[in-house]
Amino acid sequence: MDIFCRGVKPFPTPSLAEVLFWLRIMRDHAQFVDSGLPCAESGLKIEAQKFAAVFGDLEERVAKDAPGEEFSRLIAATTQAVGKFFAFKRHILHLLIDCRLCGSWLTPLFVDHMSREALYFRKLLKKITGCAMAFPVDAVVSENVFWVRGTADHFKFIRGLADPAERGLVSRAKVLGDKFDVLNLQVRDFAGILWHYRPTNELVRLEVDLRVASGEAVDFFTAAESLTARCAAATVIPPLLAGHIRRESEHWLAVLEIIRRFLLQDGEELDDDDEDEDD
Ligand SMILES: [Fe+2]
Ligand SMILES: [Fe+2]
Repeated sequence: MDIFCRGVKPFPTPSLAEVLFWLRIMRDHAQFVDSGLPCAESGLKIEAQKFAAVFGDLEERVAKDAPGEEFSRLIAATTQAVGKFFAFKRHILHLLIDCRLCGSWLTPLFVDHMSREALYFRKLLKKITGCAMAFPVDAVVSENVFWVRGTADHFKFIRGLADPAERGLVSRAKVLGDKFDVLNLQVRDFAGILWHYRPTNELVRLEVDLRVASGEAVDFFTAAESLTARCAAATVIPPLLAGHIRRESEHWLAVLEIIRRFLLQDGEELDDDDEDEDD
């Protein structure tokens, strides 16, 4: 199942750290849209700059206010801002695919990717007032699809912005991107197989594979960020984008750790049930 499907919710709880992480991501996205639009699109650029200011302001206010009544108000304001930002990104996407933004470095897949992340954040925020998914395994398998698809995109973005002369970097990004494309199909298969069921040994093994793959992605994106920061590779990767992708890949690794602990606890509970039956 996809994050776009009705009723699908992210697996993590919307903690202060999660909210701050995604606010920073939204601010970065607004800066990418602003810098990626042609100079002639001053109206859209101003709109993007306003979103960057809104998310920067929310970030500061959320960081200052401990959970309480004010925090709830900020979460409501954040949910509204993210909803508007999602609609703005879809508008930019539609202009792009209608070839009405010539001269932009934004690509349709990049903007679609950013809109998926906005939708994920909005769904995460809505978990504060709503309930969790009825079957926890549904949230786990949907989380896998969201992150694996996103990581496959990240490799394509880096590959597309590296100079073809950087053959080593380009070919490594292709190899890892292809690996994540296959993983994307695999996690989608398991999302269907395990839907409305329970964690199984197959899922535990899949999560181990994802942690290994995610670690490889973090290593690659950390190296790409370092090359970009030192101007040691011929690329047009904006340093902000390189850092952004590295932060997102590290965040996914942290989410996988939450899932690992959940599966461990779930396994222990199953063992306890077995012992009870033996008694
Ligand atoms: Fe992002
Ligand atoms: Fe991303």
